[in-house]
Amino acid sequence: MSLFASMRAPRTIVFGSGQRNAVPGYARPLGQKALIVTDARMGASADLAAMVDGLKAAGLTVAVFDQTLPEVPLECIAQCVAFGRAFGPDLLIGLGGGSCLDMAKVAAVLLRHGGSPRDYFGEFKVPGPVLPLIAVPTTAGTGSEATPVAVVADSERLLKVGIASPHIIPLVAICDPELTLSAPSGLTAIAGADALTHAIEALTAGPRVVDAGSSLDHVFLGKNALSDGHAREAIGHLARGLRRSVDNGQDLAARESVMYGALLAGLAFGTAGTAAAHAIQYPVGALTKTAHGAGVACLMPYAMSFNLSHATQSMAEVAVAMGVAEAGDDARGNGERAIVAVETLFAGIGIPADLKALGLREDQLDWTAEQSLGAARLVKNNPRPLDLSAMQAIVRAAFAGDRTRLAH
Ligand SMILES: NC(=O)c1ccc[n+]([C@@H]2O[C@H](COP(=O)([O-])OP(=O)(O)OC[C@H]3O[C@@H](n4cnc5c(N)ncnc54)[C@H](O)[C@@H]3O)[C@@H](O)[C@H]2O)c1
Repeated sequence: MSLFASMRAPRTIVFGSGQRNAVPGYARPLGQKALIVTDARMGASADLAAMVDGLKAAGLTVAVFDQTLPEVPLECIAQCVAFGRAFGPDLLIGLGGGSCLDMAKVAAVLLRHGGSPRDYFGEFKVPGPVLPLIAVPTTAGTGSEATPVAVVADSERLLKVGIASPHIIPLVAICDPELTLSAPSGLTAIAGADALTHAIEALTAGPRVVDAGSSLDHVFLGKNALSDGHAREAIGHLARGLRRSVDNGQDLAARESVMYGALLAGLAFGTAGTAAAHAIQYPVGALTKTAHGAGVACLMPYAMSFNLSHATQSMAEVAVAMGVAEAGDDARGNGERAIVAVETLFAGIGIPADLKALGLREDQLDWTAEQSLGAARLVKNNPRPLDLSAMQAIVRAAFAGDRTRLAH
């Protein structure tokens, strides 16, 4: 296969403990009126107060919207945008988990282009640049600080829905691992597992046939050289740090590894895209009301088992990146080691082992499989072709907790 590479990323990424204090310095040249989009937890924190003080000291006028709800319901977006319109910002700062960052992305679209979020569902619907956005994550997971997508919940639709456009990639991403020290172990596990699935699905995605129109016609481009590099490195950092950061939330070195891994995973899947585990999580999340990260992580070993025959080499690379195999050994054996390593890591941090444990019912399996096929951009990214019977096989195996039936 010929070499193809593409990368869409923030203009500036700054990573490191204490870097949250650089936010005012990045804000100053971008605007004069900053709207900070966050949630109630962060709204009451000393970190937010310090950021507001720093921005004011840098000469900016600041307003704070601190009512973001997890999963970003449309009603909450309307509230944020109305608050924003009344203030009239020329700069947005998203501060919080993936929900706050996604809220800030959507607000940056609506405050610049007007309309409703529904006008922008899908790919390439955002007509041009949005308000400048600085993203400051407080979870190590979604990678939203670096991605061209925002995921929201529309009460008129059962499944969550995305706005995908290179215009919504934050201009500046400032990742400070100290902001994750307060995350409880359950959140740390789910967010970190989400990041590992991003990196694995990006590295093992199917390569596409590309032409000069590919990067213009698709937000997510499939496996390519740049996303592969970021994904491999992400997997290494996450494999080294995730268990440690769950076991001891005050282990700053582990927190650094996981947050850096999550950022790299965001860079990888933000260009390459994700695949089967993400496609199936959409209906599973809608039915079980479980966190995105818990669902994708639960599904990952099953999706990997299904895909092993068609992504043997890249699955073997997962094992090498996780430090459980030597490059050059039998690829199929290394791919198997990757699956066992992912399964073991996730079991150790409390990820449910199967869809039954996640709360899905047996009579919901067929609907889950049918709905999974609706996520076309994820389905086409999967290395092994997915049709209804394939989805049914994965969903049934993941419900039964038996991935061996997917191996062939
Ligand atoms: N845009 C993307 O690229 C992308 C990728 C994957 C997932 N997502 C979306 O992101 C959302 C999930 O984001 P998330 O996993 O970061 O969780 P979240 O943002 O929904 O936050 C979950 C909870 O954790 C709390 N929290 C956040 N940081 C904390 C900290 N440091 N200490 C203590 N509590 C903290 C929040 O207040 C909230 O109550 C979902 O809506 C998902 O669909 C987006």
